[in-house]
Amino acid sequence: MLVEPLSDDQLNKVYSPILSPLAWDLGHIANFEELWLVQTISGREPMRGELGRFYDAIENPRATRNELPILRGEELRSYMSGVRERTLDVLDEIDLDSDDPLLRDGFVYDLILAHEHQHNETMLQLLQMVDRYEPLERDGTPAAEPVAAGPEMVRVEGGQVEIGAPPGGFAYDNERPRHTVELEPFEIDRTPVTNGEYARYVEETGAAPPLYWERDGADAWVRTAMGETRELDPRHPVVHVSYEEAAGFAAWAGKRLPTELEWEAAAAGADRERANLDHLAFGTAPAGAYGGAASEAGAVQMLGDVWEWTSSDFTGYPGFEAFPYDEYSKVFFGPEHKVLRGGAWATRRDVIRPTFRNWDLPIRRQIFAGVRCARDL
Ligand SMILES: [Fe+2]
Repeated sequence: MLVEPLSDDQLNKVYSPILSPLAWDLGHIANFEELWLVQTISGREPMRGELGRFYDAIENPRATRNELPILRGEELRSYMSGVRERTLDVLDEIDLDSDDPLLRDGFVYDLILAHEHQHNETMLQLLQMVDRYEPLERDGTPAAEPVAAGPEMVRVEGGQVEIGAPPGGFAYDNERPRHTVELEPFEIDRTPVTNGEYARYVEETGAAPPLYWERDGADAWVRTAMGETRELDPRHPVVHVSYEEAAGFAAWAGKRLPTELEWEAAAAGADRERANLDHLAFGTAPAGAYGGAASEAGAVQMLGDVWEWTSSDFTGYPGFEAFPYDEYSKVFFGPEHKVLRGGAWATRRDVIRPTFRNWDLPIRRQIFAGVRCARDL
């Protein structure tokens, strides 16, 4: 559905050195599915021999992907459907009660679904730059959600808090093991920071505006998405800010970014079924929407709308074990990546949960990242 409105020229075009051409994403999604759901679990040979190495995300940095002899046009589409056919053939003969941890409870199928769904979001990052992109479907209900009034910040009690995914059910290696931490009580913003608040910060400090903002006269802003320029809606959450910008805003507001542990404690009880996810709306809902689906602490929109930068470096939890391979999380551990939480309007619903950890470089702004501040009590 996402790529159907696009021409082959648009699928092959490089829009940004930090984003792959969409044709690479599509081939990579199919190749990753073939690697795990056909080759690895059934021992079958790959359909296209050595093709796989061009779709290895670690071997091929985004800036070089368009120079690779990747599949394009009809060849790409027939490879994608060929892989899916073989995946379904293998599924018919596979034993999901197996002792193999890859197969047990269908783990590897959840993994590949999550991978494809996470690439949907990466592709949506690029679609923001595509002139006159017109989605096949758009759902206006998130934007029409009633906005609840409430205090600027809510209190989170802290104490002994369980962090991470429980055993059983699908979760990534970096969400495990579940463990207990001790948190001081703190306050967290009830809603994500809005465009209006962020514009005031930009005006007062001369800070750079978020990606896709442009001045429209002396004190007004417009923002452009998918080739369409519109007046900025001050009630909506700010999006496309870097970690440094988010932290700068928080300091200006007399607050700070939450740690990811604080964020997870504040998100307890948030419901992904009542959140702006799944790129239904192709944009955010106003801050304060989904008031009936607040977390136990009273914060709204913890899930959906915008990813929220935390002050935490991406690291392994105590007792971390890489599974099923080091390249998913472990190679990214360290101070160079900051953790984001909560998912955005562009995140698929089945990907997100309160324990889900996303990470990126602190300078990145093409991701759907916003701000929610915290404060010591
Ligand atoms: Fe990938």
